[in-house]
Amino acid sequence: MSDPRPLGVFDSGLGGLTVVSALMAALPHERIIYLGDTARVPYGTRSPETVIRYARGCARVLMARGVKALIVACNTVSAVALDLLRAELDLPIVGVVEPGARAALRAAEAVPSPDGAPPAKIGVLGTLGTIASGAYPRAVARLSTRLEVVQQAAPLLVPLVEEGWIEGVVPELAVERYVAPLIESGARVIVLGCTHYPVLKGTVAQVAARLSGLEVPIVDSALATAEAVETLLREERVLRAPLRDASDGSRLELLVTDLPASFAVTARRFLGGEAAPEVAQIDL
Ligand code: DGL
Repeated sequence: MSDPRPLGVFDSGLGGLTVVSALMAALPHERIIYLGDTARVPYGTRSPETVIRYARGCARVLMARGVKALIVACNTVSAVALDLLRAELDLPIVGVVEPGARAALRAAEAVPSPDGAPPAKIGVLGTLGTIASGAYPRAVARLSTRLEVVQQAAPLLVPLVEEGWIEGVVPELAVERYVAPLIESGARVIVLGCTHYPVLKGTVAQVAARLSGLEVPIVDSALATAEAVETLLREERVLRAPLRDASDGSRLELLVTDLPASFAVTARRFLGGEAAPEVAQIDL
């Protein structure tokens, strides 16, 4: 069993590269085509109807390139458009919300609580669209009725990450502004419900620990999504066999709808590596 077709991954912009990075580590033989809709970012502040229209456009482009599965590496799209994409498109589709909710459940159950007490409360940080959709509380409720979820929209964090302003007093204050209400509501696990936020994971962990006086596990849905993709590819029997030449330079193809040069520079921050990767511009 070996299916050489690439995986199609899309996001509104850069954030989905946190998922790409996790996918490349978990599935080193797979080829990936990534589409960042940089002409229309952000999605998190838009109406569900608009996000659905954009998501259909991204999916269409990747399917035309012959991908074997779609990974929706955007929480906002996963929150409002995933069921629809699954109903409309004839290929396996993985979003980031379900894997994130599953990882949050595992993390909450691992937090020690006194006998008979309910498990740790889960706090979710996300874009306005993701939080308004209620997708995380719904996904957690499907897995367990014992877990309580509290949510907080954190709209300033996406521009901070896009700007590369991820260290120092400004991101720390912004993170504190959003994490404090979660901690005050009793959250003892925090889910990074936006693909940009893993870049700020250290700051979120540090602020949450300072405010609560406890170590607060931070759930990164990018890692959980890579696990879910691996499971799906095995189930569908479409994994790619290891290549004879392990140094396959063409594993990742990057496409954007605007500003490829600046995307390449920031992509390096997400993916690591010495040189800025090549990025092609396309139209949807
Ligand atoms: N990628 C989006 C998400 O995970 C955040 C950026 C945006 O608002 O488009 O929700």
